[in-house]
Amino acid sequence: MSLANRHILLGVTGGIAAYKAAELARLLVKAGARVQVVMTRSAGEFIGAMTFQAITGKETRSDLFDSAHEAAMGHIELARWADLVIIAPATANFIALMARGSANDLLSTLCLATAAPVVVAPAMNRQMWSDPATQANIETLQEHGRLILGPAAGEQACGDVGPGRMLEPADIFDAVNGMFTSGALAGVRALVTAGPTREAIDPVRFIGNRSSGKMGFAIAQALEEQGAEVTLVAGPSQLPTPSGVTRIDVEAALEMHNAVMQIAADCDLFVATAAVADYRPETVASSKIKKTAESQEMRLVRNPDILADVAALASGPFTVGFAAETDNVVAYADEKRQRKCIDMIAANDVSSQSGGGFDSDENALHVLWEGGQQELPMTGKLRLARQLVELISQKIHA
Ligand code: PMT
Repeated sequence: MSLANRHILLGVTGGIAAYKAAELARLLVKAGARVQVVMTRSAGEFIGAMTFQAITGKETRSDLFDSAHEAAMGHIELARWADLVIIAPATANFIALMARGSANDLLSTLCLATAAPVVVAPAMNRQMWSDPATQANIETLQEHGRLILGPAAGEQACGDVGPGRMLEPADIFDAVNGMFTSGALAGVRALVTAGPTREAIDPVRFIGNRSSGKMGFAIAQALEEQGAEVTLVAGPSQLPTPSGVTRIDVEAALEMHNAVMQIAADCDLFVATAAVADYRPETVASSKIKKTAESQEMRLVRNPDILADVAALASGPFTVGFAAETDNVVAYADEKRQRKCIDMIAANDVSSQSGGGFDSDENALHVLWEGGQQELPMTGKLRLARQLVELISQKIHA
């Protein structure tokens, strides 16, 4: 993984450090990233849009109500386009807007509309930085999962000395580059379940479900990209194993349970994406059941809950569950999170009108954890997996 071809939305707000954003844009472009600069109106008082345009090769954007731009790539598309948003410099005013969830210009709207990680590099006078209002806003942004880089301390443009200077562009670049290259999950042992299970009725029949494995395989790949050592316990699926991932194939829920419980205690992270059958036939016929009777009854017994058993391990891994729901999606998912005592749950709307879920190439998730939540809008499953892994990584490191 590297910054090459990554979509970086660089937001520039109106402070004296805005001129340094040009150098940051240059470093990102040099690393192969595709950079789209969005300026606030006041940023234009400090630096010209043409400067960024010359560096990035893309027209700088600033207006939310620009019909030509909106027709080409509307603000929601732009928000989805971004793999990462960097606000550098971020003024006290813009930080306050973000903390309030305002959407009164293009950049603040994009910050609200994006599912990509948002990195904020504050830059302001030291007194403004230490003001309780700014500090409370920074805390709010951190609670919302925003990554705050800096500020640095030192001599300021106004002559004051103290904390408030924007980090140097090279330092911001290194931090961002590290998010894509160093592998935020290097050294983390991750275990992922994926796909369906098949509960045998007789040698040729089974109870199964529509899971293809796409979501779980994408998560295994995204974790591996971030440097994790990944084991994938997969129910029946035709998908190729993501490179660098160790795969264990299983069929029934009991086999999946056994495979997982042998490894889970030694793992740091468990992501349960599999659609595991809650019940299995109490007995499995040893030969094919003949079509003689007019009706058949089958007694089902409960399968063990793999996720709950892993979550119950003493000093077990960080646990991430999925909740496939058709109604009251978020409320049911949160109830599951609390009941199974898991760290994070990804609510998955699998109703027929959702457009995602089982066997589709796209999906959307509503991720919940104790004291927080984030919506990851509809996108390709690999992209979504990368966004989820980014969130998991933030929580693990927090
Ligand atoms: O494979 P795809 O076609 O890409 O589809 C992806 C998906 C829709 C299957 C996936 O995104 C998803 O939502 N997986 C969870 C499906 C599910 O069975 O959810 P659930 O609400 O029944 O289970 C809740 C959680 O407990 C899940 O993390 C599940 O893996 C886990 N579980 C459930 C039962 C059980 N016996 N053991 C478990 O570990």
